[in-house]
Amino acid sequence: MKLLRVLPFAKYLLGETVVTGETVVDATAGNGNDTQFLAEQVGENGHVFAFDIQQAALDSTAERLGELNERVTLILDSHDNVEQYVNGQIGGAVFNLGYLPHSEDLSIVTKPDTTIKAIHTMLGMLKKGGIIAVSVYDGHEGGQEERDALLDYVKSLHQSDVHVIRYELLNQRNNPPFLIALEKMKDFSSVKQVE
Ligand SMILES: C[S@@+](CC[C@H](N)C(=O)[O-])C[C@H]1O[C@@H](n2cnc3c(N)ncnc32)[C@H](O)[C@@H]1O
Repeated sequence: MKLLRVLPFAKYLLGETVVTGETVVDATAGNGNDTQFLAEQVGENGHVFAFDIQQAALDSTAERLGELNERVTLILDSHDNVEQYVNGQIGGAVFNLGYLPHSEDLSIVTKPDTTIKAIHTMLGMLKKGGIIAVSVYDGHEGGQEERDALLDYVKSLHQSDVHVIRYELLNQRNNPPFLIALEKMKDFSSVKQVE
């Protein structure tokens, strides 16, 4: 299959840009699929900081990771507080928006303000040439508001600072996710927005 689905395409982009030994962020650990992928990418000398606001998600992630737990710090806090936990440059970041699959409480979802603040902060921390991959689900309550706010935000980023793509399969049923990927084009610590 040549046209990758959205989640494999997000991993492909991160696999092209994250190198061993780097520090990276999983902003929405959930059941740990992306955390595991990132831990494998950074190798034994790299590190993953994985955030979630639900202890059940971090427990599920820890169980999945096994020996890879040594390369991962699990943080029970919102991703927009990333600067309180992660110092220095990051090699990449991944977001998987929406709710924790199979959770007892599907009303716990990512929110526009914290998602955008976290992306904005991580763009400042990101290495030049690094990628932030954001898989967007809009089928749940509040999902469309988050999608629209996020699209407004990424379109406001100056093209000389950040390149942004949207990748989606157009003929899939059941509200599949689409991908927003941001590539940092030059060094800056705080990204500019345009009107
Ligand atoms: C779609 S799931 C992530 C799936 C995950 N990538 C995986 O591989 O299983 C979204 C997760 O984001 C978490 N979340 C919601 N708001 C958050 C926030 N402000 N900061 C960090 N995590 C958050 C939810 O608790 C949920 O576990």
